Amino acid sequence: MPSTDLPDTGPLTSKSQATLLARETERRRTFAIISHPDAGKTTLTEKLLLYGGAIHLAGSVKSRRAERHATSDWMELERQRGISVTSSVLQFDYEGFRINLLDTPGHEDFSEDTYRTLMAADSAVMLLDNRRGVEDRTRQLFAVCKRRRMPIFTFVNKCDRAGEDPLKLISDVEADLEINCYPVTWPIFRDGAFAGVYDRRRKRVEMFERGLDHGARMTQAQSSDLNEPALVELLGEDAHHRLVQEIGLLDAAGHPFDHAALLTGDLSPVFFGSALTNFGVEPFLEEFLDLAPAPSPHESTAGIVEPTNPEFSGFVFKIQANMDPRHRDRIAFVRVCSGHFEAGMQVKLGRTGKIVRLPAPQQFLARERSAVEEAWPGDVIGVVDKGTLRIGDTLSPNGDVEYRGIPRFAPEHFARIIGTDPMRRKQLDAGLRQLTEEGAAQVFFTEPDGGPNPVIGAVGMLQFDVMLFRLENEYGAPCRIERLPYRYPRWVEGPEAAIERAARGSGRMRLYDAKGMSLLVFDELWTLRSTQQHETTLTFHEVAPQ
Ligand code: G4P
Repeated sequence: MPSTDLPDTGPLTSKSQATLLARETERRRTFAIISHPDAGKTTLTEKLLLYGGAIHLAGSVKSRRAERHATSDWMELERQRGISVTSSVLQFDYEGFRINLLDTPGHEDFSEDTYRTLMAADSAVMLLDNRRGVEDRTRQLFAVCKRRRMPIFTFVNKCDRAGEDPLKLISDVEADLEINCYPVTWPIFRDGAFAGVYDRRRKRVEMFERGLDHGARMTQAQSSDLNEPALVELLGEDAHHRLVQEIGLLDAAGHPFDHAALLTGDLSPVFFGSALTNFGVEPFLEEFLDLAPAPSPHESTAGIVEPTNPEFSGFVFKIQANMDPRHRDRIAFVRVCSGHFEAGMQVKLGRTGKIVRLPAPQQFLARERSAVEEAWPGDVIGVVDKGTLRIGDTLSPNGDVEYRGIPRFAPEHFARIIGTDPMRRKQLDAGLRQLTEEGAAQVFFTEPDGGPNPVIGAVGMLQFDVMLFRLENEYGAPCRIERLPYRYPRWVEGPEAAIERAARGSGRMRLYDAKGMSLLVFDELWTLRSTQQHETTLTFHEVAPQ
């Protein structure tokens, strides 16, 4: 467990500063929850916050959500749709750890932001419904984590009600996602009801009892040999017999625990629980904090940067406009990668060499902002931006460190955007430019140097609504969209004649991105595949080559 001792007051020597930096880094855990809608992310988040003492009443995340909709200081669209469009960062403490939970949009629709948020996390928790196992959205988000070789923890939720057999669930996850699993906790059923978990690492049985108001307390946690008579008495013979058999099977036939494989994303520790009743949440949290990595080194143009490097550095992973209509500001979310951040600090933007002052960074608890005086590696700060910053920008004292860019993610939906007021063309162009910079939209053109009606691409359908709303409300450019039937974009490189040939035929269209690079968009996977087979001189890229 990390120490929370505060440093001596008074000026810090560089040695005590280094010790403090190492200690603050070590106690941080920055992660995101990935799940399909309805798996229970809101419920689990709320319970985690409850343990952290950040909120006091179960249900308050939801009731606050409802309350805020009455007096929204967030985007009007969110209020109208009753959904969360933007993602925020929740920070709380638990037993000496400082936890940063990067919240991703919970609505069934989502955007590139969801993917980008994962770039700022050090690990992910994959939340599964015990009846549904791996679902589409989980699969997509998992793929992004896997590509980054991030540690992925699995929490099988809703075990308070009958679900898929745990052994089958695990083998389905392994087959579907091509990852090895190691169940750290295993569910114990007594008289058919979920009653506790067995922690295989700690060799401990943890029983729960239902509390009032949807809560639960851990009633008996005891280190126990599986064959102890007291345990037989506690569980009853049947439940005990089943547990011994299952654990025996896991020990004999399952993958062994391997922390190194966990850290490279090759082995997922699995936990069983119920966010609704709290069963299994605390054992999960404790094991998670123990096993999940503290902020790790980042690759940069100046080599590997350790988080304990005394110089502050961080990168922008998300830009959010109009979080507060009263201020009409943009907030750039910066993940701190190294060093100590202090309010008022001046840093250099590597891309332009410009000095940027960071006067009033913000930190977020749900939707409440508060000014922060300092931040450490793993933390996320919100920097008020007047249009200087872009997604992927690196901030550091001398501007000589550049973190590898945040990848673009291939759009999955396309639409032609048509200004409904011809007098407002300039506003439309300016709006599209800014939304592109912010990463809220990907804009493409039908001709190399523009063309009358740009095409916009989005990862989630909801991004279209957000764009239309913002173009009208922020830029005074009312528009409508015409959906296009394409789903599979590929950036293409190769001889012009071959690109032209590949662009002919039905079920496809040729577009140009903002840098003038060609891409072909296809309606069906087989149209794409057959084009790839025919045009062997072309290289097809799923995302724009950087
Ligand atoms: P999401 O953010 O992933 O979309 O899911 P959310 O937490 O909103 O949960 C979706 C539904 O699943 C909710 O039910 C919630 O109560 C339920 N749920 C979450 N965790 C558990 C669990 O551990 N066990 C069981 N049995 N149910 C769980 P709802 O009926 O849609 O909403 P509500 O009326 O309960 O608020």
